[in-house]
Amino acid sequence: MKISVIGTGYVGLVTGTCLAETGNEVVCVDIDKAKVEKMRNGVVPIYEPHLDVLFERNIKANRLRFTTSLEEGLEHGEIIFLALPTPEDEDGSADLSYVLNVSEEIGIKIKNYKVIVDKSTVPVGTSEKVHSVIAKNASCDFDVVSNPEFLREGFAVDDFLKPERIIIGSSSEKATELMKRLYSPFVRSGNPIIVMDEKSAELTKYAANAFLATKITFMNEIANYCEKVGADVDMVRAGIGTDSRIGKRFLFPGIGYGGSCFPKDVKALQKAGKNVNYDFKILNSVIEINSAQKTVLLPKIDNYFKNDLKGKTIAIWGLAFKPETDDIREAPSIDIMEALLQKGTKLQVFDPEAMPNIKKRFGDKLNYSQSMYAALEGADALVICTEWSIFRTPDYGKLKELLKNPVVFDGRNLYNVNDMETEGFTYVSVGRKP
Ligand code: UGA
Repeated sequence: MKISVIGTGYVGLVTGTCLAETGNEVVCVDIDKAKVEKMRNGVVPIYEPHLDVLFERNIKANRLRFTTSLEEGLEHGEIIFLALPTPEDEDGSADLSYVLNVSEEIGIKIKNYKVIVDKSTVPVGTSEKVHSVIAKNASCDFDVVSNPEFLREGFAVDDFLKPERIIIGSSSEKATELMKRLYSPFVRSGNPIIVMDEKSAELTKYAANAFLATKITFMNEIANYCEKVGADVDMVRAGIGTDSRIGKRFLFPGIGYGGSCFPKDVKALQKAGKNVNYDFKILNSVIEINSAQKTVLLPKIDNYFKNDLKGKTIAIWGLAFKPETDDIREAPSIDIMEALLQKGTKLQVFDPEAMPNIKKRFGDKLNYSQSMYAALEGADALVICTEWSIFRTPDYGKLKELLKNPVVFDGRNLYNVNDMETEGFTYVSVGRKP
């Protein structure tokens, strides 16, 4: 099929590349000339595991092309994906200006039937808005479909190629059939394509993210309570996760959720509720608890150093909001580092991918280390903010040798508490024995 994708951010690029991989002819449109030029030369502008291989393969096979011309994109695709940014407004709601501006252009420029697919995370009712903006100028038939994505950063290619479900919000049979045809190669294993009205599809996306954020937050509260009463959150997690009604995933406590999705979407849903006089009390609490959770290690660090952190050197392992990404948006590491800097500490930081992004934000306020061990040299303590695999089995001897004090504050519960004790560390994690 002929597909166009407007917007080559994270979602657009993964969508375009993976659709090309199943034999579709894909044209990706972006207004950023330099970025388009780079992509034409085979450079993937984001860090996402496995995307580069698919990218190169499909460009070579001429199934994946890039352009700055919206006209070209609109002419090419029978299905047009909108994968445009919906940043957070000052009041927490989603800013739809990119989506609606492009919709206006679409109305003016389309010459024959198109299915316009909203892939961005957008508030309930956006499909309707997009439809009426296009209809103002369109001289041909078209349909607007909501098709939210459930890609996780770091696993996006796999999530796209093997989705647990596809959601199609559509009230047009013709558009639904085209969408089903497009997605059928991805659900051969029998996973469902669920067709529903547009508003329910739009809300499905917010509800999924808000639910997962709530699940994590609930576990973070249980972890905090475990510390008060001497229980072990790992045990509680294993205990409840084996109940299939609860499920094992997204029960890992830590220093809070971050990223470009959960924080933004939870706030947007909270705001959307307010707009119709609905107070999402549970989301109010999730936001408040998560914000506090990001610095839950601080009092523990303070306590260890007897409230005298001034002049101390702290090593930080992990800066990205989660492993397998260079994304630092809403990363807990930022909150911890800002608080530690304010207390007069010197920070020696390491992350396998996110250092350039952190450097842009913190500049020379931090010392950037070449390796995880270099970050430890002469440090008074180690703080772990992201659970990158390379941190999971460190050389404990080296750790003790390089750190001034054998103390580790672990925001992601990477190590076994007893092992750390045996190795001679003071080991402080979340929701487990101090
Ligand atoms: C999330 C959703 O998982 C995707 O389904 C969705 O498509 C995406 O948002 C989006 O809306 O675009 P993502 O933000 O990439 O994906 O990352 P997750 O793997 O979901 O992690 C989010 C945050 O939760 C991270 O900060 C992670 O450290 C934290 N987390 C996750 C926990 O603290 N505990 C857990 O058990 C799981």
